[in-house]
Amino acid sequence: MAIHFENIKEFIGSRVSWDDRADIFTPEAAKAIREKVAERTVLVFPEVDLTDEEQLAITNAIGPKVRLTNTTNVQSNDEDVYQVTLDEKINPQPEYVLGTFFWHMDGITVDMPPPFATLLSCRIAPDKGGETEFASTYAAYEGLPEEEKQALEGLKAEHSVKASLSPIADAIPEKHRERVLGIGLIKEHPLVWRHEDGRKSMVIGTTADHIVGMDIPAGRAMLVRLAEWAAQPAYSLRHKWKKGDFVIWDNTGAMHRAVPYDKSTGRMMHRTSIAGTEAVAA
Ligand code: OGA
Ligand code: MN
Repeated sequence: MAIHFENIKEFIGSRVSWDDRADIFTPEAAKAIREKVAERTVLVFPEVDLTDEEQLAITNAIGPKVRLTNTTNVQSNDEDVYQVTLDEKINPQPEYVLGTFFWHMDGITVDMPPPFATLLSCRIAPDKGGETEFASTYAAYEGLPEEEKQALEGLKAEHSVKASLSPIADAIPEKHRERVLGIGLIKEHPLVWRHEDGRKSMVIGTTADHIVGMDIPAGRAMLVRLAEWAAQPAYSLRHKWKKGDFVIWDNTGAMHRAVPYDKSTGRMMHRTSIAGTEAVAA
């Protein structure tokens, strides 16, 4: 097998290269990629130009694939490959995509284990804005002072789509607002996720509305401070897209967001997801 990984930053990110393009589609590559995603949080495959069939094949080889959008979106061709776009001809309900401008994790409010990974292929790169940013909540947790780690033990947060869309709620047309904000479930998750392998990450981002049992202002302030901590440059990475770039990230140990872009840029990303294997556990 001849695929190679090169670190991008100390705590986050690897760039993937290959001797022969076919090398990334082998079962050995799928295994190596899965391990690297868990280790490095974000993998970038520069200008690999995957077709949907190739993206689905990689997704399933690392996989299995899972669909997040069954209940959350109506898209003219809502298939296993979700088109992330503000083009209303394809995506008549842009709220879900506008919500990606804020730090979040995918699939936190659906009735299944959070997806292990999200995979994006860049079909049309925006000329302005539209980078994607990632923040490792493994590295961020690890870097917290010991007494702060202890203060988080046993805490839970309540998550909802309503909370994640609160920054844009008043911009949603009134006739859609109630339905859009009601998407998904209201779920409580431990703030610190102790994974089966013993590593710990944080389950934070805009879906987290408040800390269960804590005064609302104090709990919200804690959530904002943790998200800011995780987003500091040492633990985060910004990817500027070129057409054909493909990125896989560990959704169980990272928040992500898009830098705002305008629909006039034509930005188009094709998204797939890999099923999670573990519910969030303390
Ligand atoms: C998503 C998402 C980020 C981006 O599709 O879930 O967060 O940069 N996308 O488009
Ligand atoms: Mn997302």
